[in-house]
Amino acid sequence: MLAGKKILLAVTGSIAAYKAALIVRLFVKEKAEIRVIMTENSKKFVTPTTLSTLSKHPVYSSFYKDNSEEWHNHVALSAWADVLIIAPASAQTLAKMANGLCDNFLLSVFLSIKCPVYFAPAMDLDMLAHPTTKKNIDILVSLGNHLIAPEIGELASGLNGKGRMAEPETIVDIILEAFNSVIFSNKKVLITSGPTYETIDSVRFIGNYSSGKMGYALAFLFARKGAEVVFISGPVKDYPVHPHIEVIKVTSADQMMEACKNQYVDINFAVFAAAVADYKPSKHFDKKHKKDGTPLNIKLIENPDIAREMGKLKTKKQLHIGFALETDDGETSAKSKIKRKNLDLIVLNSLKDPGVDFGRDMNKITIFDPFNKKISFDLKNKKEVAHDIVKIIESYA
Ligand code: C5P
Repeated sequence: MLAGKKILLAVTGSIAAYKAALIVRLFVKEKAEIRVIMTENSKKFVTPTTLSTLSKHPVYSSFYKDNSEEWHNHVALSAWADVLIIAPASAQTLAKMANGLCDNFLLSVFLSIKCPVYFAPAMDLDMLAHPTTKKNIDILVSLGNHLIAPEIGELASGLNGKGRMAEPETIVDIILEAFNSVIFSNKKVLITSGPTYETIDSVRFIGNYSSGKMGYALAFLFARKGAEVVFISGPVKDYPVHPHIEVIKVTSADQMMEACKNQYVDINFAVFAAAVADYKPSKHFDKKHKKDGTPLNIKLIENPDIAREMGKLKTKKQLHIGFALETDDGETSAKSKIKRKNLDLIVLNSLKDPGVDFGRDMNKITIFDPFNKKISFDLKNKKEVAHDIVKIIESYA
């Protein structure tokens, strides 16, 4: 959390300026106070109305208020800020900052700033690689400003390479770490996520519709709050990329079980968000099975219950959180699972609730503890649900 912290975000002319809206949203979520400065060029990529609405304050862009004679006091704004973040920082702004130019409002704030300054360059790969840009970045870093390194990926020019602005989550993480408000630092979290696929033959499997989005959102949030995350996931479309998340890809429940056992070292929290297949074929065909005009009987046997097996290893120092996706009588079933699997909390989502379904972005949850305490939440998107779950885990940790 960044409650009480004053963030000054400066947005300059780059296509990545549209991501400033997400940066503002994330800071608001962290309860920070946020003010936005926009250069004239940035307004071609994102509107002042968007950023003033999200930050709940008019944006600053010129020296004068609404073209009147009354001026914005850049020195007072510099003194107000606990941190100045320039994101995206264009090649033009970097060059001006490195050379002390002062021909717009942002630069006058920058030159009178007392707090730490972070800048997140965004530009095409050739511009970033140019010796002049490199020199400007080096100058800024040598003067004590903090570089938020650009990332490699697809660029607006259609080229692929280094130059993309760091993702909004990464920028906010860096600021969270700087303010040392990382609640889960020195904590290790194991998360199971996604479906499992149980092999029938070389091209077929038994699986389910789990998208792994809930586990993904939880992994990101724990990492953003300073935890080291071991993310053990069945086959999904997107795996989280974050310096504090180790992704272990598995296919079947047996592989997930094996990975959990191997990784259960110094774990503080284990979150079992995977939709593990309850059954697997008792044996599978090595090659693609051909039809032969007779029915094919596949005998299914039970998979290991990972949460239950790991529950047997749990000590008093560890907290286990499970999920229950139920189609009927969810409460009774969730409560019995908490006991059976030696969990500390269980997150129930009922498929009876409108808007809740496998693979969807929305979720409506109820959390139970072993003492039958029940906390219900509204229908929300999975990122917001992750915030609710992690907040409850924090209060039990
Ligand atoms: O499938 P079930 O409703 O029993 O799942 C409840 C919890 O147990 C979930 O957290 C799920 O990830 C976990 N589970 C597991 N291994 C299984 C089945 C479920 O870890 N084989």
